[in-house]
Amino acid sequence: MTLSFTRGETLPADLPHIPHLNAAAFPREDLVPLVEALLADPAVLSLSAHLDDRLIGHILFTRARLETADETVALLGPLAVQPMHQRKGIGKALIAEGLARLKAEGVAEVLVLGDPAYYSRSGFRPASRVTPPYTLPAEWVAAWQWQRLDGADEDLSGILVLPEAWMRPELWG
Ligand SMILES: CC(C)(COP(=O)(O)OP(=O)(O)OC[C@H]1O[C@@H](n2cnc3c(N)ncnc32)[C@H](O)[C@@H]1OP(=O)(O)O)[C@@H](O)C(=O)NCCC(=O)NCCS
Repeated sequence: MTLSFTRGETLPADLPHIPHLNAAAFPREDLVPLVEALLADPAVLSLSAHLDDRLIGHILFTRARLETADETVALLGPLAVQPMHQRKGIGKALIAEGLARLKAEGVAEVLVLGDPAYYSRSGFRPASRVTPPYTLPAEWVAAWQWQRLDGADEDLSGILVLPEAWMRPELWG
């Protein structure tokens, strides 16, 4: 059965619920400080999914730049879906909504560190040449994925410059 949820920009009324949603989706990782810092950053795109006015999914995209390139890029994450509503297409829909918005504003490439089995379903490719802020463990290299939004087929390269909230080594392995 298809779930009839809506998605769009995060509303002020969603904000108190976002930490709880992330804590429920990531029981073994404390991503709440990262999420709260990113929500306060105007360079971050925040989208939410609702079912009957209840928050059931949330995604962040941090707009960023590369040290030696003109293009704007974005980093996807965290993405969290309420456990009882996982595997119903909500995560995929939030990713698609974010990619469409970032493409419309001219973002050249989106990066994500996550499970390639999941993100490949939304067009991401493994092992970006873009240099993350911390060296990834060898087994995570394929999980550092990329997708061009501007029609080009080549991965960008260069050092990714991210806001302070992302500058914690434990977020990168
Ligand atoms: C991972 C997560 C965001 C996916 O969102 P979702 O709404 O559950 O996923 P979707 O419904 O869009 O897609 C699910 C499909 O992807 C597949 N899939 C592959 N890897 C997966 C994974 N690690 N988690 C969930 N689904 C995965 C599923 O098999 C499913 O396929 P199916 O529809 O053929 O059964 C969500 O499960 C979640 O919040 N998990 C906990 C937090 C997390 O791991 N976030 C991602 C951090 S990078």
